[in-house]
Amino acid sequence: MVSNSEIRNPKFEIRVRVPATTANLGPGFDCLGLALDWWNTLDVETIPRGLEIECSGAYAAEVPRDASNLVIRAMRATFVRARRKMPAVRVKMRVEIPIGRGLGSSAAAIVGGVVAANALMRGKMKMPELLELATEIEGHPDNVAPALLGGLVVAVQDGKNLIAARVNVPRELKCIVFVPDHALSTKTARGVLPARVPRADAIFNVGRAALWLAAVKARRWEWLDAATQDRLHQPYRAKLVRGMEAMFIAAHKAGARGVALSGAGPSVIAFTERGSGRIAWALNRAAADIALNGAARVVAVSARGALVKKI
Ligand code: HSE
Repeated sequence: MVSNSEIRNPKFEIRVRVPATTANLGPGFDCLGLALDWWNTLDVETIPRGLEIECSGAYAAEVPRDASNLVIRAMRATFVRARRKMPAVRVKMRVEIPIGRGLGSSAAAIVGGVVAANALMRGKMKMPELLELATEIEGHPDNVAPALLGGLVVAVQDGKNLIAARVNVPRELKCIVFVPDHALSTKTARGVLPARVPRADAIFNVGRAALWLAAVKARRWEWLDAATQDRLHQPYRAKLVRGMEAMFIAAHKAGARGVALSGAGPSVIAFTERGSGRIAWALNRAAADIALNGAARVVAVSARGALVKKI
């Protein structure tokens, strides 16, 4: 059956694709992030009145279908920032990025909304403004920056200035993500972190975050073992992430070059340039051993961030 809005407006205007992201990469708490080849899609058209939201995809059931939807909130914020009135829209969302698993689902929704709204305004706002706005909505830049720019991004707030430095990642680097069937809220995962950390732990992380970039530049994947270690968040979050240590051990034994909590968790991410299938198998096996439901997936790094096209 054809709905009234389809008769009035038969074509969607734009399609936006936004990648999943993994933040922190171990030591780069709130400043390092990587875009993954795993995408949500938004089709947006203007309609005469109202708000229409349709959802499909693996995580569609978890997405609100009203103005509280994060994509719509981000679109609205973008129009407000540009001092324009937001038009009535119909949005079709294909939600494939797991929600609440540490894979940047909220950043993808925010970036999708910001980019879609900007496309409806014919690109009125430029990339730095989009990045600042998306970061303001999300609260930290390490997922939104790679979701917008692709690749590996170092995102640093320098006073009022947000610096997002994009680094190309050689194609050979693969990620193996174990996504549990349950979610963990970022708020809860940030709530267990101490306000102060020992200087030795800060030094531990600074060197390792820098080593990540050196490893990528020199393709010295054997450095990732040290470069993924962390003392600022993972040790505190371990109590919230069942099986974290077992999964880290299993990935290492199967040949992973480095392993980290993906974002705030509860997904675990391993990195390697070879034997990714074996690592995925080992992660699934280790999860089964402790009756942890979920599945491992091999994912490439995405060199591209959010994409817009007319349809
Ligand atoms: N850097 C953030 C954290 C990412 O670890 O809390 C989660 O969105």
